[in-house]
Amino acid sequence: MKVIVAREVVEGERRVAAVPETVSRLVEAGLKVGVEPGAGLPAGHRDEDYRAAGAEVEAGVLDGGDVLLGVRPPPAERVRRLAEGAVSVSFLPVAEHLELVREFRDGGRTALAMELVPRISRAQSMDALSSQAMISGYRGAVVAAERLPRMFPLAMTAAGTVPPARVLVLGAGVAGLQAIATARRLGAVVGAYDVRAAAAEEVRSVGADFVDLDLPPLEGAGGYAREMGEERARLQRELLAPHVADADVLITTAAVPGRAAPLLVTRAMVERMRPGSVVVDLAAEQGGNVEGSRPGEEVEIGGALVWGGRDVPSQLPAQASRLYAANVAELVLLTTREARVFPDLDDEIVAGCCVTHAGEVRHGPTRELLEG
Ligand code: NAI
Repeated sequence: MKVIVAREVVEGERRVAAVPETVSRLVEAGLKVGVEPGAGLPAGHRDEDYRAAGAEVEAGVLDGGDVLLGVRPPPAERVRRLAEGAVSVSFLPVAEHLELVREFRDGGRTALAMELVPRISRAQSMDALSSQAMISGYRGAVVAAERLPRMFPLAMTAAGTVPPARVLVLGAGVAGLQAIATARRLGAVVGAYDVRAAAAEEVRSVGADFVDLDLPPLEGAGGYAREMGEERARLQRELLAPHVADADVLITTAAVPGRAAPLLVTRAMVERMRPGSVVVDLAAEQGGNVEGSRPGEEVEIGGALVWGGRDVPSQLPAQASRLYAANVAELVLLTTREARVFPDLDDEIVAGCCVTHAGEVRHGPTRELLEG
């Protein structure tokens, strides 16, 4: 069976779904691997590196592929060039790609969506949401340090003592914890807030103070955050306002699965920050945690610079690809038996991330979207 590694076509996407190391693993499992020329270049991998790992690299590899690996959802014309019953593995935000889902269904092809891989222990090595969020969190802290017109660490010099920068992180999941750890390593004093009960301990374990707002935790299914009601959101913003005003850097990462990002910080709260302060909104693409932030742009609000994240993991394509490729390879190998990739829908992981298979839409919420 032939696995194809496609070149990403979405502008700004620099990651690749397989790196030479994961190609070797697929080849060892008895699969043939074809890589589109130049597919790995933005992430630092040359065609000859893929060849050395056992891949065939040439134009036209897409035709007749049995498994298509990608980061973004593939264009429909690429899907049509695959073999009958082929399997596609990529991120696939279904609500924005209903036409493509129909294409997969009607062509009898299997679409596996990386963001739907269940977050159970057995699937940790396939958890692309976590691997990419870790990269975003690091990048967010580094962007803030670079944009801030002052140093992060405390410095005691003959000319006097320079106090450390104060960083506030809102949302302490995978991205938030990595942002905290990175800001701490750069020497900042960090405080963080999250609505999950477990967050206080996690925040302290990476060296930050937990900002206790004396509000009840907001947890839903699987230990994830629930959406805030309007009254809770107003109260939370009111209680957070003095902490935001006091911070040199604000990094926001809050998200609620399947919903737009919660608005945690209003424009008025940002306007109260000191001139030169920096706000990094890593949730900007999901609607934003900060009022007025725009994905992919830097805007001034009051005296603060507000950086809206867009394609953030793609800004560090080498490691983002390495981890994503490992997540993808693990999922492909989970569905490989005797050099054949065939999704076993009795497996909880495969069933969880399977959007279409054998002419049917298997993912309930997607089926509702298509029918509704
Ligand atoms: P996420 O990206 O969905 O959300 C980021 C953070 O925002 C979460 O910590 C959430 O609690 C927080 N948040 C949501 N609404 C908020 C609000 N109104 N105010 C402040 N914070 C708010 O979450 P992520 O990073 O994907 O994972 C969150 C947690 O899920 C992890 O810390 C971990 O406990 C768990 N997890 C478990 C995994 C596993 O078992 N394999 C893998 C990854 C995460």
